[in-house]
Amino acid sequence: MTRDPRSAVSFAYVVDPAPGVGARPPRTTADSDAPSLSLNGLWEFRLDQGPWTGLPVPAHWQLHGHGSPAYTNVSYPFPIEPPFVPDDNPTGEYRRTFELPADWRPVAADAEPATRSLLRFDGVDSCFAVSLNGTPLGHAKGSRLAHEFEVGALLRAGTNIVEVLVHQWSSGSYLEDQDMWWLSGIFRDVTLLARPEPALDDFFVHADWNHVTGSGTLAIETAGTGVRLSVPELGLHDVDPAGPHLIERVEAWSAESPRRYDAVLRTDRETVRLQIGFRSIAVVDGVLLVNGAPITLRGVNRHEWHPEHGRALDRATMLQDVLLMKRHHVNAVRTSHYPPHSAFLELCDEYGLWVVDECDLETHGFEQVGWRRNPSDDPRWEEAMLDRMRRTVERDKNHPSVLFWSLGNEAGTGRNLAAMAQWCRSRDPERPIHYEGDRDSGYVDVYSRMYANHAEVDAIGRREEPPTDDPALDAHRRAVPFVLCEYAHAMGNGPGGLSEYQRLIDTYPRVAGGFVWEWIDHGIARTTADGRRWYAYGGDFGEPLHDGNFIADGLVFPDRTPSPGLIEFAKVITPIRFDLDLTLNAISVTNRYDFRSLDHLAFAWSVARDGHQVASGTLDFPETVAGDTSTLVTEDLLSSVGEVGEDGEDNQDAAELWLTVTARLAQDQPWAEAGHEMAWAQFPLDAEGFTSRAAASTPAAATSASASSASSSASSPWPAGLRDAVTAARLHVWRAPTDNDRGGGTRSLANRWAQAGLHRMRHRTIDDSTESGVRTVRTRAAAAASDLGLLATYRWRETDGGLRLDLAVEPDGEPAHWGDLTLPRLGLHLALPASLTQVAWFGLGPGESYRDSRAAVRIGRWSLSVPELQTPYVRPQENGNRSAARWAELTGSDGHGLRLEGLPTFDFAARPWSDAALAAAPHPHELTPDGILHLHLDLAHDGLGTASCGPGALPEHRLRPSKAEFSLLFRPVVVTATPQE
Ligand code: GAL
Repeated sequence: MTRDPRSAVSFAYVVDPAPGVGARPPRTTADSDAPSLSLNGLWEFRLDQGPWTGLPVPAHWQLHGHGSPAYTNVSYPFPIEPPFVPDDNPTGEYRRTFELPADWRPVAADAEPATRSLLRFDGVDSCFAVSLNGTPLGHAKGSRLAHEFEVGALLRAGTNIVEVLVHQWSSGSYLEDQDMWWLSGIFRDVTLLARPEPALDDFFVHADWNHVTGSGTLAIETAGTGVRLSVPELGLHDVDPAGPHLIERVEAWSAESPRRYDAVLRTDRETVRLQIGFRSIAVVDGVLLVNGAPITLRGVNRHEWHPEHGRALDRATMLQDVLLMKRHHVNAVRTSHYPPHSAFLELCDEYGLWVVDECDLETHGFEQVGWRRNPSDDPRWEEAMLDRMRRTVERDKNHPSVLFWSLGNEAGTGRNLAAMAQWCRSRDPERPIHYEGDRDSGYVDVYSRMYANHAEVDAIGRREEPPTDDPALDAHRRAVPFVLCEYAHAMGNGPGGLSEYQRLIDTYPRVAGGFVWEWIDHGIARTTADGRRWYAYGGDFGEPLHDGNFIADGLVFPDRTPSPGLIEFAKVITPIRFDLDLTLNAISVTNRYDFRSLDHLAFAWSVARDGHQVASGTLDFPETVAGDTSTLVTEDLLSSVGEVGEDGEDNQDAAELWLTVTARLAQDQPWAEAGHEMAWAQFPLDAEGFTSRAAASTPAAATSASASSASSSASSPWPAGLRDAVTAARLHVWRAPTDNDRGGGTRSLANRWAQAGLHRMRHRTIDDSTESGVRTVRTRAAAAASDLGLLATYRWRETDGGLRLDLAVEPDGEPAHWGDLTLPRLGLHLALPASLTQVAWFGLGPGESYRDSRAAVRIGRWSLSVPELQTPYVRPQENGNRSAARWAELTGSDGHGLRLEGLPTFDFAARPWSDAALAAAPHPHELTPDGILHLHLDLAHDGLGTASCGPGALPEHRLRPSKAEFSLLFRPVVVTATPQE
């Protein structure tokens, strides 16, 4: 390839809106026995005419030391001047030689037909030109789309050389503004494919399932003649694929039971293996039906991401995603915002996930200029946009998992989108079309919104949303199902409010479900000089324009460790629900799957008294089909509770009894082993409820009731300095803002808290007096330059070897002056010795929880070290709160420490750095312990919400300044044995 300047002037095709030249029409992916040769591996590479070096394919050059990654969300990282891109356009030259296998016949021998050959690129970002043995084959755009070039006559027996010129920016970049790292190169497979004649280049499987009769109809459109079909299990042997073949009994494919039938399509010279899934999709009265039943999409948006390899994913990583999703009850994936590697869809077919397959299209950056010159409505871009849609549908049309086609994301509106929808509908009338940007739903068969708040979803569920301007469109929109294509922005600590969304999804048949934004944090792995791993986000590569950590908004951390958000989501969407009726002694299970029964589950119960299991058993529910509830009257359980009462050593009035019911996999599933916990619920076995009883109890009674048998406290002396540290406890109302607290621009909670000075409160002692053994300290906490304050009265008294604190707080100042300001938290900060390194507690755990994200935590005894109590969000922020602790013990290696008892409960967080340090550190590895254990004991918190993109916390989860009372007992403790069972 000649040395060319990088300027687009030299490469007219780079800025031509047209999709490319020379590529063959798109076709299905297929598992063919025709010879193929992977050209993955080490290629020669140079960037911008630099020195030649080696670069793996598939890979992004920025992740191999050439140039650097850059992140923007909406903003184009170049001037908006479609279709042009700057002269400074990083361009990589790739070349490799390969030996043609001896049995590959590029040229016709006497009696034998020549073998056509194709050079296939599954993904090149963003534009490339390719040549073989010096002859140009063509050029293409559409980074996440496959392109095949005919190479037959150019192939040589022996050594061949393929050369590819890849441009980082092109006209195609205007269509690929998908809120992700800008990363370039050949990042998916390159393959040489033999295409024997007659070949079976393309086929389209139509496998319909009749839910009334249980029959299937199979018809396969094929390109070419003489193609035969066999599906041995269905009794089809070498039949005409066109059929239609009516099969009296088949099992349907669904995400819950992904039943597929092995099939073979054969020509004289080629055999293609496929797996057929029968299913039907219909919309009836605005309700999405699959196989005749309404389905609920419990989905996630998935970008392809690996912290070291970017969007160059191997199958093992894809499988990891699928397994994690299945184990956490996720049943649907929106492939935001481009078709994924085909292997991912194969895994969705195999393991069972509904897929919204989205076209490689987003022009969001045009919104920043009022959508002026948006390609979506410019005829010069029609071919490019149609090409993208065709390449999406043609490649992926044979996946039973694909439920909807999506035209793309955030590309405004316009004639080209309408044309894409029209083409799509004519090519595949069986699948509904999705596109969120079409608010009036003129192009689509699904009404879609992103980040609609709970009230809007409720209105849509009730079919009472405001009408569109056009009555005909309005009628259409009201007749189609609704999905939240994005909701519950999983950035940092959160999302809050999932349970409330799920209630709406479960309530309204029109609401077919939603897709949390998003699956994974796209952090890029980095290592410190001393070997610690951290994850980079926007700005960490010196980008002049970037969107910071908005790229880290997933349910799993960059290394795919589930975040607390995923654990919460899994609990909220569990398709198995338990209920307890204490008056009838009845436990019931409700099957919230769409299709499958609960036969794959084994049920058990246990009762714990003050966190110690005292009885357990199994539950033998009868077969419970989808949608049904089964109830068991639980004699055993009742008698065990009775025994607890008789044999208990402690004060029975104060003991806490909890019933835990679980469902586990009874047998291995393809995605998890037998024993995997699928569902759980806890119920207090106490008619009055724990809180009311505990609140009424005297401090002494509460103390003896909750004392851990493994620790002694009453007679322990206070370790040096600890008592003073406790009595120095101060009111603390700020938290290191979460990403959600920072959402909403200048009106963000974080800004308003900062303006109110909540992070720099000063304390003034009003008086400090002791009377009848009660020391009363009255203070006013307020920020400089503010006349708003909080009056706090601390009442300390000795009690049974400990100290009891009763704290009363009340806002000072007219309520109107506080406006709608919330408090991040209301509690105490204690500066304790850092030698306290282990925390055991009885309360909700083991994970962190907040008032609008606490479905996933359960009552129990837990023990974690201080480091384990921290959640390493990619950008540090408030984290690690443990809720509703009845007691907690903080101990050092010598077993000595501090015991806290709630009257009745408290939230706590224990960390080796201050909130201020937590808020200031850009990355977790930049946080350094400051020699103190910062203990937060909180009465309440502001909710989390999802205002980083979407609504804030619901009103009932907001913490407004108001009168509050908070009581705690502090006592020294010596733990002589682990308090864990
Ligand atoms: C949406 C967009 C996503 C992502 C999200 C915020 O508007 O469709 O791609 O940017 O917001 O993280």
